[in-house]
Amino acid sequence: MKKIVWQLILGFTGIMMTGIANAQLVVKDKTREEKIRSLIGRMTLAEKVSLLHANSKFYVPGIERLGIREWALSDGPHGVRAEINRHNWAYAGWTNDSATCFPPGTALAATWNPKLAYQRGIVLGEEARFRKKDILLGPGINIIRSPLCGRNFEYMSEDPLLISKMAVAYIKALQSKDVAVSVKHWLANNQETHRDSVDVHMSERALREIYLPGFKASVTEGGAYTVMAAYNKFRGDWCSENEYLNREILRKEFGFKGVLMTDWAAAHSTIKAALTGLDLEMGTDKSDYNEWYFANPLISAVKEGKVPIAVVDEKVANILRVMMATNMFDEKKREKGKMNTPEHQQAAYNDAAEAAVLLQNNGNILPLDFKAIKSIAIIGDNATRRHCDGGLSSEIKSLYEITPLEAIRKKFGAAVKINFAQGYEKQSTFKEGSNTGQTSANKIDWKLIDEAVKVAKESEVVIVFGGLNHDFDTESSDKQNMDLPYGQDVLIREVAKANPNTVVVIIAGSPVKLSGIVQRVPAILWSWFGGMEAGNAVADLLSGKVNPSGKLPFTLPVSLDQSPAHALGNFPGRDLSVNYEEDILVGYRWFDTKKIVPQFPFGYGLSYTGFSINGFSADKASYGKDETIHAKCTIKNTGSRDGAEVVQLYISDPVCSVLRPEKELKAFEKVFLHAGETKTIELEVKVADLAFYNEEKKAWNVEAGEFVLQIGNSSRSISSSVTISVN
Ligand code: BGC
Repeated sequence: MKKIVWQLILGFTGIMMTGIANAQLVVKDKTREEKIRSLIGRMTLAEKVSLLHANSKFYVPGIERLGIREWALSDGPHGVRAEINRHNWAYAGWTNDSATCFPPGTALAATWNPKLAYQRGIVLGEEARFRKKDILLGPGINIIRSPLCGRNFEYMSEDPLLISKMAVAYIKALQSKDVAVSVKHWLANNQETHRDSVDVHMSERALREIYLPGFKASVTEGGAYTVMAAYNKFRGDWCSENEYLNREILRKEFGFKGVLMTDWAAAHSTIKAALTGLDLEMGTDKSDYNEWYFANPLISAVKEGKVPIAVVDEKVANILRVMMATNMFDEKKREKGKMNTPEHQQAAYNDAAEAAVLLQNNGNILPLDFKAIKSIAIIGDNATRRHCDGGLSSEIKSLYEITPLEAIRKKFGAAVKINFAQGYEKQSTFKEGSNTGQTSANKIDWKLIDEAVKVAKESEVVIVFGGLNHDFDTESSDKQNMDLPYGQDVLIREVAKANPNTVVVIIAGSPVKLSGIVQRVPAILWSWFGGMEAGNAVADLLSGKVNPSGKLPFTLPVSLDQSPAHALGNFPGRDLSVNYEEDILVGYRWFDTKKIVPQFPFGYGLSYTGFSINGFSADKASYGKDETIHAKCTIKNTGSRDGAEVVQLYISDPVCSVLRPEKELKAFEKVFLHAGETKTIELEVKVADLAFYNEEKKAWNVEAGEFVLQIGNSSRSISSSVTISVN
């Protein structure tokens, strides 16, 4: 039932390509702007201000007499969160708010398939509308700067292009269902440690080349209706009242006409926030909503002439514009939504199936032939643990969640004897805002290991389901280290000694150290937190019904000190300040430039079949600065199974007046090929996208000269390259 039907997906997402979905919010729509002005003209100051702050955890009041409905917001980003009480954080206890739960952000990015991001946006939009929500708080697109950031699992990648492609597709789809996104967290919320007090510093070049592009694409290409200002400070000012970020970049440069809201309790002032472009205050920790910065204090500030009324009107206009763009004033036209349909569950399955990354498969031990195997040991806490309801704000009350053990039992249990052993136990305890529960999470439990070794010896094949859980991958605290917790290294070592046919499945949303196990087991499959269909997808991947096609969206270091922020000692900063000294050398840009060999590189992932990339060429030898490079190659499935490969195009600029990363991703495409099939693909790169940001000139700059285009199937597996020149 959960078979991937590619044609279906392509049909489902086909409209994405036609660009039907919303373009950037513009003020050219005269009728809309007139309607907005007329509504504002009929409002009292108190009414205007009432639209600029919440009156409960997730709702903003409407103005009934003017036909303005209340605004309903919900988390995000990989499912519609269960209903929370209006005035406290407890769940409301609804019985109809169980939802579809997708694999979180890093898993989505690991598919390298924007069509799936689009499909996810459609599902989330439909479910949000069914729940009568107007804004879904996502996608989360902060750069994965350190392997330790607790929210890496919610974010997508260390690479701005991969983030941009996935975010734009997600946003267009979701907003096509009359629900606004909220792209978060604007900006540089790259750690959870001291997230509500840390001051982030980085060069203008790092800002432009690494940290801004995802947000820029979300606004200018995706047409995001709302953006969420992060908790932290940026260059000395809170993100929610940051003139440079909010007025200069977001409003002026990106032309953003939507709503800038705070993260929950991220507002710090009335006048400064109002003047620097914040529209909506959410989550402030004061039970009297009239006391919020954008409530009575704003009314007073206007009366005292400290905030011009035009500034308030601008905010109200932004809010009404988003309401109109999502058809809030035209309920007949508005998407009605649907919930928990088989198509929604299929979409969740497709993501989990396409996200898994096959890291190692010595002797082709995978896929497993369950028809020929008589007994199998399933070991590890993650074989039976459900993850959808963890991680804090992104937690989902999933309609169901299939665990790996359940799926394997159901699919193969009749023919294969399944011997389960716990292997290791969850020893950590999550406490919001603290990672102390992680400190004592390394106890080696020999009793559990002995039991696991026993079942391993009694079985033909062993699968260990290890990795992390949401005590580690979570909002509000960072991981303390990159280790596999709970003595898993020792468990896996002992099990592999007892039975060399040991496959390890890593369930985690952020990098973990695999150096203790790569030499000891033949196969490692990284299957992420897999959402509600996690078990079904992983069982189908292990059996070969689905061929792995995911690629790492981040570099997997051998050890933490290889990673740039840690090598340079600037994570999580000092005295509540952090300086991103690695600059533009984030992720693979650092590893490649510094010639450091990671455990597994960015863009890497194996398949049960083989691929060859040939005939790489560019359409010309030299280009002008406003031209587009059309590169071509053929890709062949050289094996005997259908599968998909991600063709990745990197560029390097060998001679330049400034340091450039060894290579940078500029285009990619996931290609599905039947066994033996060959396809020709074309990848486009604008010459303008070869530029670096010149800090002195405050402008993007493509220096004339040679550039090398490299094609491959990971950042460290380049099949061929072509040199072009730019004049
Ligand atoms: C998180 C946001 C989330 C909000 C509402 C905050 O703590 O940082 O991502 O959307 O809470 O739950």
